Amino acid sequence: MGKWPKPAEGSWTEHYPELGTGRISFEDSVSPEFYALEREAIFKRAWLNVGRIEDVPRTGSYFTKEIHIANASVIVVRGRDDEIRAFHNVCRHRGNKLVWTDLPSEETSGVCRQFTCKYHGWRYDLEGKLTFVQQQSEFFDLDVDNIGLAPVHCEIWNGFIFINLDPEPTQTLRDFLGPMIMALDDYPFAKLTERYDFMADNNSNWKLFADAFQEYYHVPSLHPQQVPVAVRNPEGGFECAHFQIDGPHRLVSTAGVRRWTLPAEYMYPIERATRSGLVGPWETPDIGPLPMAGLNPGNVDPWGITNYQIFPNLEILIYGGWYLLYRYWPTSPSSHKFEATLAYHPARTVRERIEHEVSGVVFKEFALQDAGMLGGTQAALESGVLDAFPLSDQEILVRHFHKVVGDWVAQYDGALVGARA
Ligand code: FES
Ligand SMILES: [Fe+2]
Repeated sequence: MGKWPKPAEGSWTEHYPELGTGRISFEDSVSPEFYALEREAIFKRAWLNVGRIEDVPRTGSYFTKEIHIANASVIVVRGRDDEIRAFHNVCRHRGNKLVWTDLPSEETSGVCRQFTCKYHGWRYDLEGKLTFVQQQSEFFDLDVDNIGLAPVHCEIWNGFIFINLDPEPTQTLRDFLGPMIMALDDYPFAKLTERYDFMADNNSNWKLFADAFQEYYHVPSLHPQQVPVAVRNPEGGFECAHFQIDGPHRLVSTAGVRRWTLPAEYMYPIERATRSGLVGPWETPDIGPLPMAGLNPGNVDPWGITNYQIFPNLEILIYGGWYLLYRYWPTSPSSHKFEATLAYHPARTVRERIEHEVSGVVFKEFALQDAGMLGGTQAALESGVLDAFPLSDQEILVRHFHKVVGDWVAQYDGALVGARA
């Protein structure tokens, strides 16, 4: 539409010359060898968001997180000193998985005073210390003070709990997140505690679903109902208002549109009736001052949404007074577990509760439109017929994401080669 603060000259992509403009390969989304490298180079080294502080609200609150690609299971627990810690979910005695409920492969959560291994009954306190050994006198040189649960690095940023499986992370969480993400330091995530959580097994590589959420080029085609004529460009397409890249992280902002001014065909009758839908409630409660410099760094007017892709597998979409969160957990080269959370200010009235429910249901339908298609993308890429694909300027973040993934893998692989030489 030409009115957005595009770089003064050239395209968004050419603004970042390191990205190039050539065709890219999606071999990184089908290759088992590349998947094995991603395990070591990315998922065992990067900071990974596993939850929010609201997930462990009081002393003894815990949850487990299965990180399939890293062959890891992690316990996150709030201790008696109010600290949130993470531990490998492995008993120090003979390696049994310590915390699980019905099936050892499934995640669980709850509140407890201690963790007791189901196998021989060893017990650990909330700080990971070994506190009970059955028939301790029959062991040889057992140093109970130094055989607690193996810790996992755990840091918190604005209520988001991150872990790092690297025994010695090379960066603190804040250094890793960098200034573009830290500009959200004051966003009041902690006030938005009415949550709707979804989980789906998806038969595509984890990066392909992330790709579908970091470009809006596909929206007029795959979700025509989402983009009224009023917000399309003269070619019938949709242009994003602002793109930005900072280290391994990305953001994209889109312009706002007043839903109530749109013709009826762009929404379901229930959206008009409840004044809520795909972009959330049409009005949200005042949650205090918002850090607009971080939320709308492109000064888009009217501003709609900013979507932050935090490397490697977290995405936060902020709509002013509420947010959406996605996480992509790889389970094989051609599958991943997709998690989505919608978070609102707790409803104060029945009307607000209904607005939240409608927003969640409409979101789920649109997410399914993407999810249902990606099995086809995966299968076609796996045919191996083509290996170079053109990307438009609107797909700059796809280009950047795959480049960063490739860079992390190459850096790790290079270090290995160097070590072997
Ligand atoms: S493996 Fe846990 S107590 Fe034996
Ligand atoms: Fe989509």
